[in-house]
Amino acid sequence: MSNSIPQRKITVVGAGYVGSTAAQLCAQKSLGNEIVLIDILEGRPQGIALDLNQAAAVEGLGARVVGTNDPRDTANSDVFIVTAGVARKPGMSRSDLLAINAKVIISVAEYVRNHSPEAFVIVVTNPLDSMVHLCRAKLGFPGQRVMGMAGVLDSARFSWFISEATKSSVVDVKAMVLGAHGDSMVPIPQYCTVNGVTLKDLVDRASIDKMADRTRKGGAEIVNLLKTGSAWYAPASASVAMASSILNDQKRLLPCACLLNGQYGFEGIYMGVPAILGKNGVEKIVELPLDNDARILMHKTAGAIEADVQLMRDMKLL
Ligand code: LAC
Repeated sequence: MSNSIPQRKITVVGAGYVGSTAAQLCAQKSLGNEIVLIDILEGRPQGIALDLNQAAAVEGLGARVVGTNDPRDTANSDVFIVTAGVARKPGMSRSDLLAINAKVIISVAEYVRNHSPEAFVIVVTNPLDSMVHLCRAKLGFPGQRVMGMAGVLDSARFSWFISEATKSSVVDVKAMVLGAHGDSMVPIPQYCTVNGVTLKDLVDRASIDKMADRTRKGGAEIVNLLKTGSAWYAPASASVAMASSILNDQKRLLPCACLLNGQYGFEGIYMGVPAILGKNGVEKIVELPLDNDARILMHKTAGAIEADVQLMRDMKLL
């Protein structure tokens, strides 16, 4: 079994719930033969790695998980999934996290740049759009190799609500959420379908608006229920789906935070847009025709991202 595993190294940064679940998924999907889980907490990544390797004995998986506190163990990784940072507490916005998590991203970017100069980097840490912007600025990598996970997660949340409202299997639901990973995100009902059937032919406008609104607050809903943390299963699945599309050159069309170079009328900012992910990273940003409402919301969401980027400049982080 282990012979069939591609010789690839994936590093998951941060051994919290998102990170350890992402490491587990990478092992289960045999995305690479070596999965490194790194955290600054001593013992935690090592303990999780032992547990995952012992689970692999039961599952018959050949990937080896390495838990470490030493950035040198991440050298020559093909892909990084960066989850490290503090999670939201009830009442906190993602931007409240900016100052704390920026420091984490800066230190991670330094060892990625030094030890894995050819890597692809998927940032998960919040506030997502500004953290991926900061990460790329510190890495100096081409934008094509640095992207943020959010659109897949937000679209998955919208998909689940659509599945519930239409009483249909989530397998058949395709949803699209663009923009920032924050309150200003832009669910696009125009591009939501249940096995090809447009959402507006299945439910009324008021229900669509309600689902879109619940999607915007989807992360907070879980934070409020859990009381001591934020979501991890869907964020981990979403980031591993992106890594898989890159490593296996699947060329999936996934909404994710990409560096825009004129697309959608924006330049030099990271924002959630549909992109083809393949062996070259972000291979193409797809520009969807948007209706007027969506276009206005895209401008609003870009404004929210630009405000966070400006805040980082004011704090001399950029
Ligand atoms: C959420 C966090 C990961 O949306 O931002 O659940």
